[in-house]
Amino acid sequence: MTKRILLIISGGIAAYKSLELVRLLRKRGIAVRAVLTESAEKFVTPLSLGVLTEDHVYGDMFDLKEEREIGHIQLSRQADLVVVAPATANMLAKMAGGIADNLATTLLLATDKPVLAVPAMNIRMWHHAATQRNIAQLKADGIHVMEPDSGEMACGEFGKGRLPEPQAIAAEVARLLALPLPADPLAGQPDFETADTPLAGRHVLVTAGPTHEPIDPVRYIANRSSGKQGFAIAAAAARAGARVTLVAGPVHLPTPTGVNRVDVETAREMLGAVEAALPADAAIMVAAVADWRTADAADQKLKKDGSGKPAPLPLVENPDILATLGKHAKRPALLVGFAAETQKVAEHAQAKLARKGADWIVANDVSGDVMGGDSNSVHIVSRDGVESWENLPKDAVATRLIEKVAHVLSARPD
Ligand code: CTP
Repeated sequence: MTKRILLIISGGIAAYKSLELVRLLRKRGIAVRAVLTESAEKFVTPLSLGVLTEDHVYGDMFDLKEEREIGHIQLSRQADLVVVAPATANMLAKMAGGIADNLATTLLLATDKPVLAVPAMNIRMWHHAATQRNIAQLKADGIHVMEPDSGEMACGEFGKGRLPEPQAIAAEVARLLALPLPADPLAGQPDFETADTPLAGRHVLVTAGPTHEPIDPVRYIANRSSGKQGFAIAAAAARAGARVTLVAGPVHLPTPTGVNRVDVETAREMLGAVEAALPADAAIMVAAVADWRTADAADQKLKKDGSGKPAPLPLVENPDILATLGKHAKRPALLVGFAAETQKVAEHAQAKLARKGADWIVANDVSGDVMGGDSNSVHIVSRDGVESWENLPKDAVATRLIEKVAHVLSARPD
């Protein structure tokens, strides 16, 4: 049966991307009925939406006191999923507060269907305590909330708050409607010869990137991890049909299609996000987590005191996320760690495997320019021995690793 979504478009510069979203959804055979808020009509016209949806477009001019208009409440019940994209800060606030002061918000309050909100706003509005409180409330209410992308914004600022690409939203809609994902057209050759989606129905958790450990409000401890390998693995898992949670440290990379991204800064935030994402069938910990953080991050910028001596910087050890999962009550069936080594690669990886309670350690030789580079020489170390792969592009390492994950999980019951 045809799946139907009700697409609520609220006002913001990103509203124009809803046209491309509608096109992609229709291409996947999903019927779309659109509702525009008054301010959204300044960015997209009902006419263009009507042409693309091949349906009536509902505006904001209804008087809900009229009985005939109460019927419009049914709009949100006839859909399989309600999608709010873009969801402005104002729209999210109204949703979190249960305010119903126009057709769009009335439909959201009246619906009995799952709701996906896709926020888009200025970086400062996104990070504002009020917005973050509203997001937490919406999640607690069971609303699916996509993470905004990072990048350059229409307002000229750079940071988090951009509407995710229409392909990523369409993939998330398909996932929530339990439709299979098509192979990523950008990925070139199909990855899997036997089945397109060997990880369908599985949850794969991936960590990626560095962590930043604050010293004071303007300084932090970091490392050179680019996040590329972890992002490639998350993308490959999504292409293989898995539900993917990608917990990412601070990196400048777009969210791969079909991946749920949770951005964090510190090791402790990463651990919290990883534990919140459990249970998972497989966890692949690719992040270069900082081993140490400052014992006490200063509230104010540290100043030189004129003595010529640097301020003392006592460090304490961070929690080990991989080792925590290794002995967790909800330990994933397959637990994979990465190890960056410069010497005795396989030997050190074997020790790490045992110490952290992992099933495999993907050991890479970082004596070259692996960090930030595009290829990787890896050895897969398990209790059964060592499998060494030739130097491969990071995308190919990701695809091969996910094939191996799929192979192992297919031998286990759901
Ligand atoms: N890791 C983690 N939490 C940490 C440190 C590391 O989850 N606090 C994970 C990494 O994501 C990776 C693996 O552990 O999967 C190995 O990390 P690595 O830094 O190579 O190992 P260490 O335990 O720090 O050992 P060493 O620095 O002695 O090589």
